[in-house]
Amino acid sequence: MKKIAIFASGTGSNFERLADDQKIAQVAKITKLVCDKPNAPVIAKAQQRGIEVFAFNPKDYPSKADFEQAILEQVEDCDLVVLAGYMRVVSPYFLQHFKQPIINLHPSLLPAYKGKDAIERAFAAGEQEMGVSVHFVNEELDGGEVIAQAKLQRKTFENLPALTDRIHQLEHQLLPQVVYQLLTQ
Ligand code: GRF
Repeated sequence: MKKIAIFASGTGSNFERLADDQKIAQVAKITKLVCDKPNAPVIAKAQQRGIEVFAFNPKDYPSKADFEQAILEQVEDCDLVVLAGYMRVVSPYFLQHFKQPIINLHPSLLPAYKGKDAIERAFAAGEQEMGVSVHFVNEELDGGEVIAQAKLQRKTFENLPALTDRIHQLEHQLLPQVVYQLLTQ
């Protein structure tokens, strides 16, 4: 059985999809949730499923290197790290020391709309084709090699909440598929 660590900061709907995916469960175990927001709803989702949580407040550490060192110790036996709504940039220090793949989910068709508020910015720009990407994490924000993407066409008169909802549905389908593929290839 392979071991997966998931990093998340908020609601955790993608965490939930990964944790409840039957195919992933056949080949791997999610052994850890790493969360940088001690009050985030994702924490209860992990606890309900008996998944160990490492929740920390970055302000309690003297520097980013210190809390990243603490995270490294938590995940050193994992075969894969999945950033699923982790609102923090992983440092070069972490990338150098964690030797297994790290992947990230991003709500745009990379390389377009890297960084925050990707859906809002693509919507405001009037993009007709939008979507989500799963990519390997490297030192550039949302800049690593793209593994897979899923696309949708914006509907006429579709508003931002409806579109955001459809983008999230695409994420919920794509991320478990990619994780399973990486674990079994
Ligand atoms: C997702 O839209 C992801 O692409 C972005 O943050 C959101 C996380 O949502 N980086 P959730 O916490 O998984 O519900």
